[in-house]
Amino acid sequence: MTSNSKEYWESYYRQNPNPSGESPFARFVSGFLNEGDSLYELGCGNGRDSVFFGKKGVRVHAFDQCEEELAYLTAQNSLSNVHFEAGDFTNLGPKSRVDFIYSRFTLHSVTEDKEIDTLRWSFDALNENGLVFIEIRSILDELYGQGEKVGKNEFVTSHYRRFVALNSFVSRIEEAGFSILYKLESKGLAPHGDDDPIVIRVVAKRAERN
Ligand SMILES: C[S@@+](CC[C@H](N)C(=O)[O-])C[C@H]1O[C@@H](n2cnc3c(N)ncnc32)[C@H](O)[C@@H]1O
Repeated sequence: MTSNSKEYWESYYRQNPNPSGESPFARFVSGFLNEGDSLYELGCGNGRDSVFFGKKGVRVHAFDQCEEELAYLTAQNSLSNVHFEAGDFTNLGPKSRVDFIYSRFTLHSVTEDKEIDTLRWSFDALNENGLVFIEIRSILDELYGQGEKVGKNEFVTSHYRRFVALNSFVSRIEEAGFSILYKLESKGLAPHGDDDPIVIRVVAKRAERN
């Protein structure tokens, strides 16, 4: 296992298939969104944030590698403005442009090269002045260093994680053609049970086309 950990996530979503309880990051991002806006979600898992945005009238197209879970979400989805599609978000190919791209706890599931591919793809897939919203694990996370080291800042426990350094992550986003509107590295953003990891949030704007 080097990245993606597809089997781990397939098994996880067999146990947690339903889209309930949006993330704190989705609540933060919802302040930027209006009814009728279009959004791609990269790595939607059980669709909890996709459905939350969909209920606000956002036109959501959500991708995840877990085919079985996405088939389940599609079958039970009642929102006509929300669509689920199985796929590798690092290799989606050309898509029609949207206003927003949302990635919560997914870019640390892939290698740095694939992160860069995804940021470049996001540039092409966004309308001018479109925004990308990212929440990602920091190298300051207490989980950093646990499990088998498989590369720089990369570790495998039950699944693969690549922790990122804020400054270099921000540079990669800028190199892909974005300007940073907001960045924060802190505890208190993504509490889960007894865990309160230090995570990074970024909101970045796609530069205008020349
Ligand atoms: C930590 S979960 C986050 C799920 C969701 N964003 C949330 O916050 O509830 C990571 C998700 O990313 C998905 N994922 C990881 N790498 C992927 C890839 N290359 N293509 C598509 N999905 C991927 C996994 O299947 C999993 O559903």
